[in-house]
Amino acid sequence: MLKPQILLVTYPAQGHINPGLQLAKRLVSIGVQVTFVTTVYAIRRMNKISVPEGLTFGSFSDGYDDGFKPGDGDDIYWAELRRVGSQTLAEFLVASTEQGKHYSCIVYSILLPWIEKVAAAANIPTTLFWNQTATMLDVYYYYSNGYGDVIKNNINDPSFSLKLRGLPELNSRDFPSFFVSSNPYPFALPLFQEQIEILDQQSHPRVLVNTFDALESEALKAINHKYNVVGIGPLIPSAFLDGKDPSDKCFGGDIVKNSSSSSSRDSYMEWLDSKPESSVIYVSFGSMSVLSKPQMEEMARGLLGTGRPFLWVIREKEEEEEELSCIKELEEQGKIVRWCSQVEVLSHKSLGCFMTHCGWNSTFESLCSGVPMVAFPQWTDQTTNAKLVEDVWKIGVRVNFNEDKEIVDGDEIYRCLELVMGCKEMASNAKKWMELAREAAKEAGGSSHKNLKDFVDQISHV
Ligand code: UDX
Repeated sequence: MLKPQILLVTYPAQGHINPGLQLAKRLVSIGVQVTFVTTVYAIRRMNKISVPEGLTFGSFSDGYDDGFKPGDGDDIYWAELRRVGSQTLAEFLVASTEQGKHYSCIVYSILLPWIEKVAAAANIPTTLFWNQTATMLDVYYYYSNGYGDVIKNNINDPSFSLKLRGLPELNSRDFPSFFVSSNPYPFALPLFQEQIEILDQQSHPRVLVNTFDALESEALKAINHKYNVVGIGPLIPSAFLDGKDPSDKCFGGDIVKNSSSSSSRDSYMEWLDSKPESSVIYVSFGSMSVLSKPQMEEMARGLLGTGRPFLWVIREKEEEEEELSCIKELEEQGKIVRWCSQVEVLSHKSLGCFMTHCGWNSTFESLCSGVPMVAFPQWTDQTTNAKLVEDVWKIGVRVNFNEDKEIVDGDEIYRCLELVMGCKEMASNAKKWMELAREAAKEAGGSSHKNLKDFVDQISHV
């Protein structure tokens, strides 16, 4: 029998490409041929190491093949991505057909709802790959299905809270930042709403979610009268889930920076090797968030206050600003890098705690490594992820902003770090979730593996 072929398309950002690549690998391992596609610029910059047979790469243009200039504005970028991408992805599909490809399905990640029209014109079925939590999918579903007004009208009231079926009670600060009218990305919410509308028009659509059954059991079932929401995660390199050490460790998609060269990698890994077990604080804010200079100074104050070793990722963009006032002390007590192989760092035995912006990949990678967190959310889904980390999974604590709500003081950072570093309960909960994540991913009986196989069986018999 011919192997089914899937076109997997992701938004061109690190937080979408990383889980997308892992999904591609899982699909290949169960007998699917996958063409992984994102924009020309992103595909050129990706590390493509240990690519398995059955996985190929392709690209389409977003009109910015030499990179998007931040000053152009995200709203312009998203409009261009849709306009140019619709055309160039359609051309890509025509060329693929001419080369004898026959895709059973186009699987696409969030923020790309326009792919539906491209797929419909080519007569190819689609499936959404929701690369955030199931909780987040439900929240956007509820927002578009009856709860939009109540949320919009109350979101600015700090005492507002809402209990929605399948979810923990959410306070205004727990909702995604895009619901707040003053959020600087007013064009983001309509994209999510458009995606939900598309799903609402389909008959019981299957949505593949980067989560697992035991982690979000209620959220996965909450809207099952409308959608078939299935957990297929954790989508992190299998080497970190089965405890083995195969060569696919580096199969990430480092599009942000290729500075994780072997020499810089060796230097921070050696530094970690020299530290006692569970002693190191790891600080990183993902691939997009940039802390203000005053916030960086407060972060430095909090870290120095603990007296503990830390590994702090300060990406190039942040570093362009003026140097931190206490850079010497920071370099004595900790290590600052521009980028690191995060999954490797998180699984290092010296790790004690992760101060994270709660991007879903970072949060999930930490959970899968059994590392408790200090949640320091910035925007989008991170606020909701922080709520889950603190109150539902109980594997971390969330920072409080100062009274002006603009900054988190060094004293608060210190308080949270000390609390997490000294908390046996959070450490033991983190280990429990780590074990459950590994169970879910197992080929023998793992819930996520089974869910993905069911999906492949379904598309193979259409
Ligand atoms: C974005 C959104 O901000 C996030 O909220 C959403 O859930 C996914 O898309 P990002 O901010 O980049 O992602 O954060 P995150 O989801 O955590 O993804 C970052 C990825 O980059 C992770 O897989 C992480 O392992 C990787 N990374 C980050 C590194 O490999 N090295 C680093 O130094 C920093």
